[in-house]
Amino acid sequence: PTVAVLMGGFSNEREVSLSSGRGVLAALIEAGYDARAIDAGADLSALVDTLTRDRPGVVFNALHGPFGEDGAIQGVLDWMGIPYTHSGIRASAVAMDKEAARAVFASAGLPIARGTVIAIDRFADADPLPLPYVIKPLNEGSSVGVSIVRAGSNRRGEIVATWHYGPTALVEEFIPGREITVGVMGDRALTVTDITPNSSASDGFYDYEAKYSAGGSEHVLPADIHPDAFAEAMRLALVAHQALGCRGASRADFRYDDTLHGRAAPGRLVLLEVNTQPGLTPTSLLPEQAAYCGISYAEMCAWMVENVAC
Ligand code: DAL
Ligand code: MG
Repeated sequence: PTVAVLMGGFSNEREVSLSSGRGVLAALIEAGYDARAIDAGADLSALVDTLTRDRPGVVFNALHGPFGEDGAIQGVLDWMGIPYTHSGIRASAVAMDKEAARAVFASAGLPIARGTVIAIDRFADADPLPLPYVIKPLNEGSSVGVSIVRAGSNRRGEIVATWHYGPTALVEEFIPGREITVGVMGDRALTVTDITPNSSASDGFYDYEAKYSAGGSEHVLPADIHPDAFAEAMRLALVAHQALGCRGASRADFRYDDTLHGRAAPGRLVLLEVNTQPGLTPTSLLPEQAAYCGISYAEMCAWMVENVAC
């Protein structure tokens, strides 16, 4: 089929999406598809005009963040009757809303961090949870807007002053230990990657800088963790994908607290989120896991195109 690679958009992850999209476009052309790029700007009628004129057989959704990952573009494409890669409206909307996703995860028996949704204008007054904790926007990706509040750091006022992610925020207990992630393609969990951020500016977590700078983080795959925890992370990623009703590929991000026993006994796994539009950039995790499983980047992109709903 002819494929239109939708990329860019106008979320805080625009640059990430352009990087994902450029990679996908080159790979699809290499795989023999008649593919072209569409930079999905903020002008919806221009986008609809382009799609109406080109009438692609499939849209490859390489967008990230609000409007690209939250059900909005999925609704437009459903309405136009154009098949597209990755999840549909409902899974996208629920996964992107961290409060709604936590409710779905909890009812599916998935382990989540202790957390609460707060009004940001009350945040300066008091700590909503015991320190340390993490405060994050309800619907951003790539760690945009995420801060860790530690004992003695006294950052509440600063966070409130620069907050521009809506009136509410999610506050979750900070889970010590490691950041791990599991990619899913269809009914298959790929492997577990253990991520160590390198950047000293990153406050020791896998922030935007650590995610997208070359060498910003070290990825160990398959992760060298207790085998039971490894198997459990693989299982949980699939359960989460299914509980949300995801389609195609997704990637589940976890914290893994092994600070008590190290590799000697399984530690505590906590599901942070499922990404329905996992990054496909040169430093991204899903392509790296696919490669580990013997699936090249081009094969992975082609698989996504062939797994659209019609
Ligand atoms: N939000 C970025 C693209 C990711 O999850 O990979
Ligand atoms: Mg995300």
